[in-house]
Amino acid sequence: MTANHPIKISPSILSADFGRLGEHVAEAEAGGADEIHFDVMDGQFVPGITFGFVVLEAVRAATSLPIDVHMMVKEPARYAAEYSAILNLTMTAHVESTPDIDATLNEIKATGIRPAITLNPDTPLEAITEVLGDVNRVLVMTVVPGAGGQSFMHEMLPKIEALAAIRDSSYPNLEIAVDGGIKVDTAPLATGAGATTLISGSGIFGHADGVPAGVASIRDAANLNA
Ligand code: DX5
Ligand code: ZN
Repeated sequence: MTANHPIKISPSILSADFGRLGEHVAEAEAGGADEIHFDVMDGQFVPGITFGFVVLEAVRAATSLPIDVHMMVKEPARYAAEYSAILNLTMTAHVESTPDIDATLNEIKATGIRPAITLNPDTPLEAITEVLGDVNRVLVMTVVPGAGGQSFMHEMLPKIEALAAIRDSSYPNLEIAVDGGIKVDTAPLATGAGATTLISGSGIFGHADGVPAGVASIRDAANLNA
């Protein structure tokens, strides 16, 4: 692959033990994670409800890693000003979550948070190509958002490949992230298709040998094909 980025591993705390969240986040950092993935669900954009600002404060207190806030909410920019009190954030907005994605990304950026864009499995790449100049990262969803522990949708691999081709021709610094069903068997498929940031929840926090072993297993598998 011709990406300018090294592989990044981003553990999703949706699968962490919330009775010991701070410890789990610290274990992910000690195990070599590059960032922490934080899934916000509002019960409207997706059926479930997860967590928001106060839990984000707790995660920030446990790590100095960058945090990627994945906003599975309607009109995510509504939360940007509040969340901007937390340092070193990316806010990943769904193109389906607002009628005006340009304004949403600009509002996020104006608060000092790095904006990123994501799209559901059934949304075509064409829906985001106009805003590729406004973001440093595109997240390709490889499951229907809303829950951890789902199976990787192999039919998303051509979408990752198509985005990687656009990156290589026009946006060499664009990061391509994947989220959903990333395990040791699917990580090399994602990196082989051109993904550079791998988000994994159950594959890391559910690892039999602990969280650092989970991070290492995804990194080793991803690098097989990077
Ligand atoms: C799903 C979330 C993911 C989730 C991934 O809606 O966006 O971040 O935690 O979980 P796994 O890695 O278990 O598929
Ligand atoms: Zn996510």
